[in-house]
Amino acid sequence: MPGITAWVGIEKIGNAKEGSNVFISAAAGGVGIIAGQLAKVKGCRVVGSVGSDDKVKLLKEECGYDEAFNYRIETDYDAALTKYFPDGIDVYFDNVGGKMLEAVLNHVNHGARIALCGMISEYNKVWTEREGVRNLLNMVGKEVMMKGFMVGSYYNHFEEIIKEMEVHLKEGKIKSKHKIYNGIESFLESLASLFSSSNVGKVILQVAS
Ligand SMILES: NC(=O)c1ccc[n+]([C@@H]2O[C@H](COP(=O)([O-])OP(=O)(O)OC[C@H]3O[C@@H](n4cnc5c(N)ncnc54)[C@H](OP(=O)(O)O)[C@@H]3O)[C@@H](O)[C@H]2O)c1
Repeated sequence: MPGITAWVGIEKIGNAKEGSNVFISAAAGGVGIIAGQLAKVKGCRVVGSVGSDDKVKLLKEECGYDEAFNYRIETDYDAALTKYFPDGIDVYFDNVGGKMLEAVLNHVNHGARIALCGMISEYNKVWTEREGVRNLLNMVGKEVMMKGFMVGSYYNHFEEIIKEMEVHLKEGKIKSKHKIYNGIESFLESLASLFSSSNVGKVILQVAS
């Protein structure tokens, strides 16, 4: 499922092409780690943001990302995006929303595409405390397209997507990462790992053998 979600955002909504500058947030999570690798397969320049230096290393050394940065250390997102995207952003695969989304809108190129996959930075807030995005105006002059999606709505593409992803996996062009927690008693620990930057790839809770 994370692979299919990544495909929809990169391929269908992001329309990532050879040479596109692609930014992925939560880039070492279950979806992000595949999205970035898929963009690399398509010949894009890919940068990811993550919450630890170990994840930065993983993305650059094992997953083929061109660059990655730790958003907990490089907290001025505008400055970070200026540094990592000197030629602007063509495709943003948004997993986090909030301040990162706002910063991205200051760096989009004309005709950029933003795939709204998730907004994990905002999930645990009541809506009145959620971050507002103040610079949507940037989308007008640059004719930016921003689209939310739910992977289930692309059910009719699943067969095609699975076939393509299977080839990439077999050829070693895409690596899948996951961690399995065993037993329902691990539920809280597994859930908490998503919010503490401790998970890498998909978190799976196996309730029975
Ligand atoms: N639209 C759909 O159909 C669909 C389908 C599946 C998932 N999703 C959404 O897509 C996103 C990614 O899913 P996933 O399965 O890849 O996630 P995941 O494996 O559960 O990982 C989530 C990642 O988000 C990062 N994170 C947590 N809190 C954050 C914060 N406050 N600010 C920035 N990053 C934070 C964490 O890594 P770091 O902090 O280390 O970067 C964590 O590894 C989620 O928002 C999820 O809800 C959407």
